[in-house]
Amino acid sequence: MVLLRGLFQSCCLFLLIFVVCCIPPEDPIKCSSDNTDCTITNSYGAFPDRSTCRATEVAFPSTEQELISIVSKASRNKRKMKVATRYSHSIPKLVCLDGQDGLLISTKYLNRTLKVDAEAMTITVESGVTLRQLINEAAKAGLALPYTPYWWDLTIGGLLSTGAHGSTLWANGSSVHDYLLEVRIVTTGFAGFARVRSLKDGDKDFNAAKVSLGVLGVISQV
Ligand SMILES: Cc1cc2nc3c(=O)[nH]c(=O)nc-3n(C[C@H](O)[C@H](O)[C@H](O)COP(=O)(O)OP(=O)(O)OC[C@H]3O[C@@H](n4cnc5c(N)ncnc54)[C@H](O)[C@@H]3O)c2cc1C
Ligand SMILES: *[C@@H]1O[C@H](CO)[C@@H](O)[C@H](O)[C@H]1NC(C)=O
Ligand SMILES: *[C@@H]1O[C@H](CO)[C@@H](O)[C@H](O)[C@H]1NC(C)=O
Repeated sequence: MVLLRGLFQSCCLFLLIFVVCCIPPEDPIKCSSDNTDCTITNSYGAFPDRSTCRATEVAFPSTEQELISIVSKASRNKRKMKVATRYSHSIPKLVCLDGQDGLLISTKYLNRTLKVDAEAMTITVESGVTLRQLINEAAKAGLALPYTPYWWDLTIGGLLSTGAHGSTLWANGSSVHDYLLEVRIVTTGFAGFARVRSLKDGDKDFNAAKVSLGVLGVISQV
């Protein structure tokens, strides 16, 4: 009996061992063909009102130069634009365009680390770099971010734009944007051109550009 009960218990224990694994969320952008006629949602598959949003087209720049030409072309054609990220983790409909038409610009391929300066303790990355990448690249140089939100697959562009934060009462606070030194942002210019602004700590528009909810332009690098 005792033996059997022991056996029974170890069976139960055995059954209680689960295998936990992880797969990244589905691509939030789906197009019917050739990056046109698309829908966008978030990483949960639907916005709080259970809808998804539409876009005429999605562009995937892989360099700042490509981004500039995409923004200037769309600006000439008077198209509305919004920025989308690799996984689109925000719950609200921030990424949705005004109406059914317009261009989504994805930062999926703007995902390179440009410079790590261990001595100055700074890192320069493109805006589609994920928190996971940022943490890993910094760690290679013996550096760490002081405060971060709690999720690896957020992008630096997305988490800055929504004021994402960790938690602390120390120093300058727990928001990632409190530790930002410079941001490059591509906006529409006059007469159908695009303009790249490099804003630094102390510049008049720096605070607005840091937490823009994605409505002031496309952040290309930070
Ligand atoms: C599981 C989970 C845990 C989380 N934990 C935390 C936490 O601990 N602390 C916290 O503060 N937040 C947390 N968040 C919220 C998260 O930080 C925000 O939703 C963040 O905005 C998501 O980043 P994203 O890269 O997915 O951007 P998205 O959701 O795709 O985009 C957010 C906004 O930024 C804009 N945007 C994105 N990239 C750019 C760019 N390059 N240029 C201009 N605009 C841009 C978009 O247009 C959109 O308006 C969490 C979210 C999830 C899903
Ligand atoms: C950037 O993203 C693409 C698409 O997911 C991937 O193939 C590539 O390896 C990434 N680059 C870096 C530097 O992580
Ligand atoms: C806080 O921010 C100010 C102004 O940007 C800066 O001079 C100071 O070094 C920061 N302090 C810390 C502890 O990060």
